[in-house]
Amino acid sequence: MKVEGKVALVTGGARGIGKGVCELLLEKGAKGVTIVDYNKANGEETEAAFSKKYGTGKATFLQTDVTTDQLEDAFKKTKDVYGRLEYLVMNNAGIGQMNKCSAHDQH
Ligand SMILES: NC(=O)c1ccc[n+]([C@@H]2O[C@H](COP(=O)([O-])OP(=O)(O)OC[C@H]3O[C@@H](n4cnc5c(N)ncnc54)[C@H](O)[C@@H]3O)[C@@H](O)[C@H]2O)c1
Repeated sequence: MKVEGKVALVTGGARGIGKGVCELLLEKGAKGVTIVDYNKANGEETEAAFSKKYGTGKATFLQTDVTTDQLEDAFKKTKDVYGRLEYLVMNNAGIGQMNKCSAHDQH
């Protein structure tokens, strides 16, 4: 998987496995990652830590409950911020609406 210059949306990215996936993507040279998570405190902390380590704007926290229509907004905002979106990492246990993802997986 070629990561350099690509953009990923990672659900549950504020901590745990999702946070680790975000970090790995940034280590591998991703253009940016959106941290899609409903935990505001952890999301902001993780965004700040990644911005400090990898550069301002490399990580963007989008407070989102993936079980709601907010997930749709997260796709749109990711494209607004980075101009593209190649990878989707659905990490957390939230029950989302996968049919909504299909409209966004081609570029
Ligand atoms: N850690 C393990 O060893 C392990 C093993 C097998 C499976 N899993 C599964 O992998 C997933 C991630 O595990 P983890 O240890 O990183 O969990 P974690 O609890 O550390 O992190 C999950 C993240 O998802 C976020 N989240 C949960 N529901 C959400 C929702 N509806 N919308 C947005 N964000 C939401 C949480 O705020 C949290 O930041 C879980 O589904 C877990 O059951 C974990």
